[in-house]
Amino acid sequence: MKKVIIETKFSEYENINELDNDLKLLSEKSIEVLNNAYAPYSEFNVGAAVLLENGEIITGTNQENAAYPSGLCAERVAIFYANSKYPNVAVKALAVAAKKDGELIANAVPPCGACRQVMLETENRFNTDMKVIMISKNSVLTVDNAKSLLPLSFDAKYIK
Ligand code: THU
Repeated sequence: MKKVIIETKFSEYENINELDNDLKLLSEKSIEVLNNAYAPYSEFNVGAAVLLENGEIITGTNQENAAYPSGLCAERVAIFYANSKYPNVAVKALAVAAKKDGELIANAVPPCGACRQVMLETENRFNTDMKVIMISKNSVLTVDNAKSLLPLSFDAKYIK
């Protein structure tokens, strides 16, 4: 038996003003759309914004449903919309923000497992790293790619 360690690296910033301009703008967009969330059940609004290789920014918000599992997270709303509008354009970065009780949450939201899996698929599909920016009131966390959020991941190579 041997033990294997997988390391993950992330960066921590005080706020979005410390990011490069394009990522700062992307982060602002994810915050701007927070009020568009449809989250009557959790009252937890999530906003996502994706930056495409062609420079376009596409946003998404969480969409809940009385039949709970039918809803969808903000990140997947944004990525699926981007991929369906531009099936040949890579996604370079994704910013995600969340608010509760009218305020940005204190600590950054790491995307859920299902969203990470979808991010990884998009990253692999276009062979382009997707930088992920997680925004909160107290800090901003970034990873260089979706793979960093999903070690030991399942992907297309296992079913070929
Ligand atoms: N949610 C997201 O939109 N993204 C995440 O990364 C975590 C959770 C949504 C799903 C649900 O509408 C609400 O937040 C509470 O879980």
